[in-house]
Amino acid sequence: MEKVQLARMYVDDVMRKGVLEVLESGQWIKGPRSKEFAARFAKFCGATAGVTCSNGSVALIAGLHLLGVGHGDEVIVPSHTYIASATAADLVGATPIFVEVGEDGTADPNSIRDAITDRTKAAVLVHLYGQPVKMEAISVVQDAGLGLIEDCAQAHGARINGRSIGSFGDIATFSFFPSKNMGVGGDGGMILTNREDLVEPMQMIVDHGRASKYENSMLGTNWRMSEMQAAVGIAQLEQLPGWVTRRQEIATRYLDAFSDLDWLELPVVRPEIEHAWHLFVVQVDERERFMGHLAEQGVASGIHYPIPCHRQPVYADHPQHAEGTLPYTERICERIVSIPIHPLHTEEEIKRVIKAVCSYR
Ligand SMILES: Cc1ncc(COP(=O)(O)O)c(C=O)c1O
Repeated sequence: MEKVQLARMYVDDVMRKGVLEVLESGQWIKGPRSKEFAARFAKFCGATAGVTCSNGSVALIAGLHLLGVGHGDEVIVPSHTYIASATAADLVGATPIFVEVGEDGTADPNSIRDAITDRTKAAVLVHLYGQPVKMEAISVVQDAGLGLIEDCAQAHGARINGRSIGSFGDIATFSFFPSKNMGVGGDGGMILTNREDLVEPMQMIVDHGRASKYENSMLGTNWRMSEMQAAVGIAQLEQLPGWVTRRQEIATRYLDAFSDLDWLELPVVRPEIEHAWHLFVVQVDERERFMGHLAEQGVASGIHYPIPCHRQPVYADHPQHAEGTLPYTERICERIVSIPIHPLHTEEEIKRVIKAVCSYR
């Protein structure tokens, strides 16, 4: 019996045709597909403009550059996220200042308020697991006059009060890493903005700051996406709304099936949001035993993420590195488990996940 996996890759004839057309056209980079993908994706998210790029990590670095973040600056970021949300700050010469998350897994507004100093220049707010951040968190950042980057790597298709994520910040960044809600057939990313003044620099920064063929008028590098990947992205974007709906249906099934399990803490879903359910993350005591049981039942599981950013070895010299600095984050990182939620899961697989979880105790 094949294990129910956390993620699956989707390939269809539209994608195959798109890739072949690019291959045979000879225009493998800097062609019409990247532009088309960026325009369509920006429209989908309600942003003024977008640019494709190599991955979600460089999208964050580019975003911080575009907001003028550099040496001596502080960038507020939740510690409970993928490491790339934090290291982007270091890579532009700034310091990440870590904040707590609330029960919904997104940055806690009070913790953000407390973290703001004279040196704070921007915040990276992460729509973790597909759950949009709280509007209050966005307001705290914006009211303080800080730059706001939405890290949307896990939240393609999520909404707050009907408005798409990726349209709230100065900059929004996305990842198309293969397991994300949609992909591009490899690594890939997107940068979006609603700020007219950032549109041109955003497009230039991923292509050596090029103003014309031989003229480079701002700092940039090669963070471009290939045309083949853009062709895959265009095809996958068509599927995205249906996939998100399917993820929501599966999540509803899980929430219903697990509602009576008093030993299992379910994800908190706030009423004003549409969750994109990139991950379905529960909390349990004795996580290893629970994961072992799921594996025996043919169900894969994962941990996103077992080590909070501030506790990572890379931050051994960071002032917040010590154990106990962010107690809530540290506690949940010991208890979280991601169970499979994917639009391509069959009915039999969904039932198997439910049975595996319910038979644990
Ligand atoms: C929250 C978050 N931010 C940033 C990234 C980095 O994206 P990429 O892997 O495309 O560089 C990821 C991807 O794993 C992520 O989950």
